[in-house]
Parts: sequence; C-alpha cells; structure tokens
Amino acid sequence: MSKLTPILSAHWDQADSFTIEAYTRNGGYTASKKALAMDPDAVIQLVKDSGLRGRGGAGFPTGMKWGFIPQGDDKDHYLVVNADESEPGTCKDMPLLMANPHVLVEGCIIASHAIRAKHAFIYIRGEVTHVARRVNAAIADAYKAGHLGNGIDLTLHIGAGAYICGEETALLDSLEGFRGQPRLRPPFPAIAGLYARPTVVNNVESISAVPAIINNGAEWYQSMGTEKSKGATLYSLSGHVNNPGQFEAPLGITLREILDLAGGIRNGHKLKFWTPGGSSTPLFTDAHLDIPLDYEGVAAAGSMLGTKALQIFDETTCVVRAVLRWTEFYKHESCGKCTPCREGTWWLVQILRDLENGTGTEADLEKLLDLCDNIMGRSFCALGDGATSPITSSIKYFRDEYIAHVTNGACPFDPVKSTLFAGAVN
Ligand SMILES: Cc1cc2nc3c(=O)[nH]c(=O)nc-3n(C[C@H](O)[C@H](O)[C@H](O)COP(=O)(O)O)c2cc1C
Ligand code: SF4
Repeated sequence: MSKLTPILSAHWDQADSFTIEAYTRNGGYTASKKALAMDPDAVIQLVKDSGLRGRGGAGFPTGMKWGFIPQGDDKDHYLVVNADESEPGTCKDMPLLMANPHVLVEGCIIASHAIRAKHAFIYIRGEVTHVARRVNAAIADAYKAGHLGNGIDLTLHIGAGAYICGEETALLDSLEGFRGQPRLRPPFPAIAGLYARPTVVNNVESISAVPAIINNGAEWYQSMGTEKSKGATLYSLSGHVNNPGQFEAPLGITLREILDLAGGIRNGHKLKFWTPGGSSTPLFTDAHLDIPLDYEGVAAAGSMLGTKALQIFDETTCVVRAVLRWTEFYKHESCGKCTPCREGTWWLVQILRDLENGTGTEADLEKLLDLCDNIMGRSFCALGDGATSPITSSIKYFRDEYIAHVTNGACPFDPVKSTLFAGAVN
C-alpha cells in the first residue's frame, strides 16, 4: 500500500502548478482569507495544536516559536523565511519553490498575520537563480491579485551563496547587509532579531505547511505522523537509488518503505550507508532500515532527522572518500568566527586526505576522533558540530575500512592500486 501523502506536492504533476492561476484553481489563497478573518492568537493556537515542528533541521514546534513574539509591544515584528538550503543532500525547498511558490507566499501571509508582522522576507540562496526568478514572479502576481500589499509586504532577498547564512542569526546579519556570521544568543531572534526587532525565522517547508493546516484543521494534521512528530513531510531521496526525488509521507515512515516506493537501491547493488538528514547528521547503515524516520526514532538510534535528506550509498562507495568530500565542504564553509571550527575543520581535511590516499596511520584515526571531540560542543554554532558527525559515525561503523586504507597503502576502492575490495569501483 502506498504511504505517500501528497499535500505540498499534490499538484506538482500539473504543467502550470507554479502559476497563480493553478494555485487558485487548486484551492489556493482560501486559507489566508480564512486566517486573516481570525484573531492572530487563534491562528497561533491552531498551529500549536497541529503539532507542526520546524522542517529546517531542529524540529522546534512552530506554533510555540510564533508564541514567543511579544504582543502589544508597539514594535515592528518580522517574519523571515529561510530558503538558504545549502546542506549537502538537502534538496526539498528548491523543488517545492519551483513547483509551488504560492504556497509559501500564502504561508507568509498567514504567519505574518499571526505574529502581527507587516513585513516578511524570504532569504534565498544566491546560486539558485531560476528559483529566485520563480519566487519573484509569484510575489509579483500575489501583489497584482491583492493578496500582498494590503497590510502585509513580502520581499525576496538573494544571498551570496554561503552555507553559514542558513544559520538563522548569520542569515539575519546577512539580510541586514553585514558579513554573515552567527550572533551570540541571547538575545534570541524572538526578542531582538532583524533590525533588533522581534523576528520569527522559519524554514520554507514549515511555513508552506501552514495553509493546509488552516484549511483542514489541527486534528487532520495530528492524524498523520507519530506521537510526538505530527504531520507529513518531504523526504528527499538521492544517490544510488532507482528513482530519486521527493517523497511526501507521514513522519515515522522507514527507509525500507521509502525505498520500496522508490524502486529500491540501483539494480544489482546493496545499501552500504546513508544519511537520515543531510551530511551533518550521523550516518546510518543497512542495520537501520527499519528506524522510524521521525524526530524521536532517529535520535534514539544515534542520529538526527535533520532535513530528511536521505542520501543513499551502495557498496561501491568508499566511505572515507565520501566523508572527506563532506569535510572539505565544511572546511570551505566554516565562517572563521571561532577557533575550534576554523582551525579544526582544516586539520580534519588534512588527516582525512592522508587516510584516503593510503598515506595515513592508525594513530591518525585517534587524532581524528580527538579533533572531533574538541570541535563538538565547543564551537560557536552548529556548523562545527555538524562537521564532526560524518567522521565519528563512519569510524564507528566502518573502522575496518579506514584501517584497510592504512594497511593497503591506497584506497581499497581504487581499481588500479588495490585489489582488496574486489569488484568495487568508485
Ligand atoms: C550551518 C547551518 C545551516 C543551516 N541552514 C539552514 C537552511 O538552509 N535552511 C533552514 O531552514 N534552516 C537552516 N538551518 C537551521 C536554522 O538555523 C533554523 O533553525 C531554521 O531556519 C528554523 O526554522 P524552522 O524552525 O522552521 O525549522 C541551518 C543551521 C545551521 C547551523
Ligand atoms: S562553528 Fe564554524 S561556522 Fe559556526 S561560528 Fe564557529 S567558525 Fe563560524
């Protein structure tokens, strides 16, 4: 039986799904009409009751976040939508914005009303010019149709393409025109965010989930998912699978079930390792196929649901090489503000390079773990912590493969230099 629950992705197969005509034809902009007629606090309560949790990675309850905004404080409030999406493997917000940008525009109207904001911003990653154009066109059409501009304005801001600008406080600095680096907290954005005003920062998918919740009610949303992880979400399947893409399903589905829906691992191969939530979440192996993919299930098994970016690697992949590539990314994207991450990620790359080349030693493995220990929990923001996750988890599950690089004096997956892993190609 199919476990798919297309809500955000319901109309992606329509050729004009991204237009205001299609969105309206499919019932769009009825939720904002309904919400604008409601008391803002009632909207916040409804979103709280639905159990919606942030889809940007941490899973913080969305309604509760909105409730932190001080009311009656006579200050400007802001909604900021995080469309930076730069984590390796994470690829849900961009397809959503390409196929259905109006659901985000409508979500922005509802969320702004709820937190009593007159101005909302969408901060989008700089490289995705085609997506930015599409969102810009949707905003222009929403103004023309009178959905925007009647008390709520929406501005699209195009970033310069830095992973750290997805971290919400670095994003706010960047939006204000400064170099994007994380801010010291407190104060939290709910008290002093954009331009030092009370601000809600939410992920694209979190805000886009709101119109359907307004229209169908909290109970409907609660009826999907698991006890503490309610609703449905976009799982992004990539890598060595027959049919990669977005799979919208209730929280708590397992990778085994998603793989069934996706036609399985590519033919003739088997699952080796995978990420449940992007490259900053600890790796899983084929022993984790039946873990419920909700916030609690993934955490109990030692990883994080993150952005539900399921990157699948079969037995032909060298885990050391994959981890090296991710670590090079973190070194490149480290903003340099704090020493453990700035210096530590550089050293991680040097040691991993040696190990992957076959010029490392067994002692290097301990050095890697020691470095990770000094970065994890000691960095200024979660980028540093995330950089250590693929390393520590891969050593936990694939120590033998690291050692094989050392004893072989080359990557065992190198078809020229090694015969250790016969038949394995990279
Ligand atoms: C290095 C780093 C990058 C991040 N990138 C993103 C991103 O691209 N999109 C996003 O929504 N959240 C990202 N986050 C999480 C945000 O800081 C924030 O938690 C999120 O936008 C809150 O939205 P939500 O409550 O709707 O999940 C990132 C965090 C870190 C530490
Ligand atoms: S952990 Fe890395 S990205 Fe975060 S503040 Fe420190 S140097 Fe910058």
